[in-house]
Amino acid sequence: MSERNPGFSTRAIHAGQEPDALTGAVVPPIHQVSTYKQDGVGGLRGGYEYSRSANPTRTALEECLAALEGGSRGFAFASGLAAEDTLLRAVTTPGSHAVIPNDAYGGTYRLFAKVTHPWGLDYSPTDLGDLDAVRAAIRPETSVVWIETPTNPLLSIADVAAIAEPGARRGRGRRR
Ligand SMILES: Cc1ncc(COP(=O)(O)O)c(C=O)c1O
Repeated sequence: MSERNPGFSTRAIHAGQEPDALTGAVVPPIHQVSTYKQDGVGGLRGGYEYSRSANPTRTALEECLAALEGGSRGFAFASGLAAEDTLLRAVTTPGSHAVIPNDAYGGTYRLFAKVTHPWGLDYSPTDLGDLDAVRAAIRPETSVVWIETPTNPLLSIADVAAIAEPGARRGRGRRR
């Protein structure tokens, strides 16, 4: 692989991981600080003001993951459920509908059943290994098909490409 078009292994080791400008450390230091000194009101130094909103350690991880996935931006969360909750709030509104695995991870199922459903997000537990069942479950207001593959805990397999293909998404209507 050329330097301009690095392969997966090179991206895993280098993306988001320039040697530390101050010390030359080749592994990103863990920044254990909550607040960053600013150059003035709204004058963030390097874009950082408070560690929860952004910090250099998390930036390094997000840049590396984005590079590995061929994406333009990565987002890291403190837990899987925090990521799921954020994603659902970003791409759905009350009145939307989601297709979810009929053996979804328990925490994910409870997020849909106990948190987002009372808020107005309807959902259909479906066998994602059955493409016809997935197609039948999709409605005009479906904005999410939640795929786990292999599923946890039953290890059933979904055909991600087939589910993502326009024919399978025929019922997809408004996104927000
Ligand atoms: C498929 C799946 N989704 C989501 C989660 C939730 O991750 P976390 O425990 O980090 O919130 C898990 C955890 O085991 C999982 O297996």
